Amino acid sequence: MTETAEAVWRFRSSGEEETLRLGRTLGTLLVPGLTVLLSGELGTGKTVFVRGVGDVLSAARVRSPSFTLVNEYRTEKFLLVHADLYRLEPGGAGELGLEEYAGEDCVLFVEWPDRWKTPPEDVLSVSIEAAGETERLFEFSARGEKAGAVFRRLKNARGA
Ligand SMILES: Nc1ncnc2c1ncn2[C@@H]1O[C@H](COP(=O)(O)OP(=O)(O)OP(=O)(O)O)[C@@H](O)[C@H]1O
Ligand SMILES: [Mg+2]
Repeated sequence: MTETAEAVWRFRSSGEEETLRLGRTLGTLLVPGLTVLLSGELGTGKTVFVRGVGDVLSAARVRSPSFTLVNEYRTEKFLLVHADLYRLEPGGAGELGLEEYAGEDCVLFVEWPDRWKTPPEDVLSVSIEAAGETERLFEFSARGEKAGAVFRRLKNARGA
């Protein structure tokens, strides 16, 4: 069954370490070909979350791609790609070739995805909201089969 975008899983993180742990859990569940869109204001923890993902997959520490725009990390199963579109104009992601990364051999995480006009159909969406200095409210939703499967596994692994 395909998960609809209406199904939402909420997670409350009380601090950076908890966000890292959530990212590490997701890191163990990823499948090649998945795209993860990360929304939320500056400093809400999008990069921290991806750092957790990278902790369990790559020897290199995930750093913010806000200046490089795209960072790549080799893992055993796929190329982990982390993009930050903040510095682009709305819809200006066309030249980055993100669509090519959204293929079978990669898992793509995108911060500020509103700049991307043509995201894939099958996506896991994560929206993070700050609630005080260290509290963060995560909202996960999935569209498509691949993202839906990962969504359910994450929810089962960490949720109620
Ligand atoms: N619960 C939490 N989860 C994640 N980060 C937290 C949390 N509480 C506090 N922080 C702090 O919030 C900041 C998050 O920074 P991060 O670079 O991950 O944000 P970002 O959403 O990627 O921002 P940007 O849009 O600028 O790239 C860090 O300084 C981190 O220590
Ligand atoms: Mg960031």
